[in-house]
Amino acid sequence: MILPSHAQTMSVPFLDLPAQYADLKEELRPHLDAVLDTSAYILGAYAEQFEQAFSRFLGVRHVIGVANGTDALLLSLKALGVGPGDEVITAANSFVATAEAIAHAGARPVFVDVDPDSYTIDVGRVEAKISPRTKALIPVHLYGQPADLASLEALAKSHGLSILEDAAQAHGATYRGRPIGGFGDAACFSFYPGKNLGAYGDAGAVATNRDDLASTLRKLRDHGGVKKYEHELIGFNSRLDGLQAAVLLVKLKRLRQWNERRAAHATRYTARLSGTPGVQLPTVRDHATHVFHLYVIRVPAQHRDGLRAFLQGYGIATGLHYPVPLHLTQAFAALGYRPGDCPVAESCARSVLSLPMFPELRAEQIDYVADRVQRYMKEHV
Ligand SMILES: Cc1ncc(COP(=O)(O)O)c(C=O)c1O
Repeated sequence: MILPSHAQTMSVPFLDLPAQYADLKEELRPHLDAVLDTSAYILGAYAEQFEQAFSRFLGVRHVIGVANGTDALLLSLKALGVGPGDEVITAANSFVATAEAIAHAGARPVFVDVDPDSYTIDVGRVEAKISPRTKALIPVHLYGQPADLASLEALAKSHGLSILEDAAQAHGATYRGRPIGGFGDAACFSFYPGKNLGAYGDAGAVATNRDDLASTLRKLRDHGGVKKYEHELIGFNSRLDGLQAAVLLVKLKRLRQWNERRAAHATRYTARLSGTPGVQLPTVRDHATHVFHLYVIRVPAQHRDGLRAFLQGYGIATGLHYPVPLHLTQAFAALGYRPGDCPVAESCARSVLSLPMFPELRAEQIDYVADRVQRYMKEHV
């Protein structure tokens, strides 16, 4: 491995939430005070305002704020009637929450390999996994790139399946000119702090155009009812809290601009890195906009960890999304998957590297990162 020959010249974090807060502080504080002054800690006026604002942003009829993105998935599956004995098909390359929610609903996750260019579910492999028990498909808009929704919608229609979009990484991405979030029966968002739209704690939401699902979800998130002590269903405690809603309402106004900056950073990375030996760069699917929650490159597996350590030596933080594919995750061992079952996802797990990506990233930081990636790869490939 090459070691840095001189002192580190720049530090590039993976993301920089303090920088974002410094920019928002003045605007945000009065809203946080308003929540504290009225003790509207759980749901309340800010939650309602945010739900309305986010539903306008997405162009969907309803947004239901919940406690986190994992609950958004779980409650949606419950609202769709998914339960024991059912199967739900999803991508093998995602954060573990997608599969956890299916399992917590009592259903069996069925993993499908991903497409080697977009890293989203390989729709050509879905049909072979549909069984009489299949109830729903969960495409994951991974890294901020919409899945192939047109093909999935056609499949879902012909087999009578529900579609639940896992949009946790793709706030503001579009597909065929429309924001993702309104394509399936429902779409689930996470507002984990590092997301493109992030709260200052855990938060999540479900978007849906279906009035029946919206009504059930409003009950499920709040102990099974919308009126105090009227518990129509066995529900959950999964409500959006007021402070998080105030943060999200303020931040939502900046989301488009932040996404544009992310896209510009991605364009710069791609221009600087194209032609680098051994480096596969992200692609954007036709008819889609990618909001680059993550900028993920692939390098030959034998060089990935060396490159990562080399960048670390230059003060550059990177991430792995994700180091173990879902079908081989220990928690799902009982499902009986084996290495080789989803070869593209397995290869991604060994070869992906997420480079620093956040709106406040500076051009010279991108150039510094790209230059170090090039140096290492030219030396080793
Ligand atoms: C693809 C995906 N699905 C689901 C989740 C779960 O969201 P949360 O962390 O808000 O529960 C996340 C985020 O962490 C995610 O990236």
